[in-house]
Amino acid sequence: MSRVEGLRANSSQFTLERKPFHILGGSIHYFRVPRGYWEDRLLKMKACGLNTLTTYVPWNLHEPERGVFNFEDQLDLEAYLRLAASLGLWVILRPGPYICAEWDLGGLPSWLLRDQNMKLRTTYPGFTAAVNSFFNQLMKKVVPHQYSKGGPIIAVQVENEYGSFAKDEDYMPFMKEALLSRGITELLLTSDNREGLKRGGVKGALETINFQKLNPNDIKYLDGIQPNKPKLVMEYWSGWFDLWGDLHHVYTAEDMIPVVTEILKLDMSINLYMFHGGTNFGFMSGAFAVGIPAPKPMVTSYDYDAPLSEAGDYTTKYHLLRNLFSHYHAQPLPELPSHQERRAYQPVVIHQHLSLWDSLHFTDKSERPVNMENLPVNNNNGQSYGYTLYETTITSEGTLNSKNNIRDRALVFVDKHFVGVLDYKTQELALPDGKGKRTLSLLVENCGRVNYGKTLDDQRKGTSLCNVFSFYRLESSGHWMSMRQRPSFPGFFQARLYVNSFPKDTFIKLPGWSKGVVFINGKNLGRYWSIGPQQTLYVPGPWLHKGDNEVIVFEEQETDGKIQFASSPDYGMTVDVQ
Ligand code: GLA
Repeated sequence: MSRVEGLRANSSQFTLERKPFHILGGSIHYFRVPRGYWEDRLLKMKACGLNTLTTYVPWNLHEPERGVFNFEDQLDLEAYLRLAASLGLWVILRPGPYICAEWDLGGLPSWLLRDQNMKLRTTYPGFTAAVNSFFNQLMKKVVPHQYSKGGPIIAVQVENEYGSFAKDEDYMPFMKEALLSRGITELLLTSDNREGLKRGGVKGALETINFQKLNPNDIKYLDGIQPNKPKLVMEYWSGWFDLWGDLHHVYTAEDMIPVVTEILKLDMSINLYMFHGGTNFGFMSGAFAVGIPAPKPMVTSYDYDAPLSEAGDYTTKYHLLRNLFSHYHAQPLPELPSHQERRAYQPVVIHQHLSLWDSLHFTDKSERPVNMENLPVNNNNGQSYGYTLYETTITSEGTLNSKNNIRDRALVFVDKHFVGVLDYKTQELALPDGKGKRTLSLLVENCGRVNYGKTLDDQRKGTSLCNVFSFYRLESSGHWMSMRQRPSFPGFFQARLYVNSFPKDTFIKLPGWSKGVVFINGKNLGRYWSIGPQQTLYVPGPWLHKGDNEVIVFEEQETDGKIQFASSPDYGMTVDVQ
């Protein structure tokens, strides 16, 4: 195909190669789908009748330490772009640097918060310098994949919903320039909800809108501020995300399909956010904080009730959408790729455990405890995620008051005996009576940083309870003990899953456990928590192998000594999105 003119927004219709073009898009984030399944998910996207893939770029994963970049394996963005191109999908890239996306700190690296004066998403020099340094690397990878260079990228988004943050007027022009100056030449877009539209745009970029329910006034408004331009719903929310301690959101096909039908009838373009959500593996899930007294962390699954499920299964929405989109193609749609088999493996028994207290790696000691981002570890990038142990010596009894200085949740111990949990709600604990010097230990968990709203600068984690404190990091290396000896909590628990044939996807169930994290063959599957709603963790087949697979669970409080498996997920009690 000859490349003369890419995507343009010069009239009420998009054009591609000067011919009218409808964006039928869907979001799949490469960082939420095991690489071994990228192709499967994109083929399923293609077979649903979509023509455009949209993805964010997670800065925090690509630059885990300042100046250290990773674009390999699961993070090989170029391979993802090439794959999309080879399957005949166009790409709209959403490089952030802030992405929201229910992702820790909206994708911003936590080491940015080491600067006590940091002002994220502004032209504060400490922020722009870091963005420039990241974009120098990122854009080198992106530029060659643009449409004009023969690649699939037809548009690039500037930042993300800046209109609902809008702390600095100079920021969006800076971000636009950050793309242009590095060789981005395709169409630029911004993406905002109805409220954000007022302040989210930047001259020279097409404004697009995000919503779930179609409100004719919103469309009129968009038309008013931007007459005679094509209209794109950049995020048509196909479902919604879930929070721990809450219910599982569903958005029924009956509610969704008429809206999508109407959007297409209005001659608008659409991007399904998400087409396939995938999983917040590791410690990557964010937290929600708008309009509630304290932040609530996101669950591990990012199923999102999207048309393609977390494990890549077709849903009712998928089939109905396929039928709808088929009318927008001259050729019949490709056949449906075959369904993936699941396995409910036999339960496995824990055979070894390692106490938290035997797995500590001393980090530092300080008069004033520091937040985890400022710990002197990881080449001075601090600790980004997970748990940190703070310890001090006490000589008195009485009540421990956190004065709300715990971010986000702490298990409290005196001489290694569990006393209770401190969090945003519980800020006081009575310490047991005792004489002499005793060790007070606080195991503080960063449950996920807020990813949306105005409090991004306040997401430092750990505790600042004053006194002489020592810090420890946890690692599951140390002296493992047989289960014949009673385990102590918190602790690491090890089991072997034997797979006798080609490994299939499965789901882990832990009904006899309370809260922790599961690792399989060294891959962090994410957090589990008995309060739900999510009750199963997705285990992708490509992360297993034939023979013995090592499972390690870090559990805070209790175990029945067994790990169970299921062939389908359990996301908990449901509630309709509205
Ligand atoms: C906004 C953001 C997305 C995502 C959705 C909710 O529109 O732009 O990144 O957070 O909300 O899922």
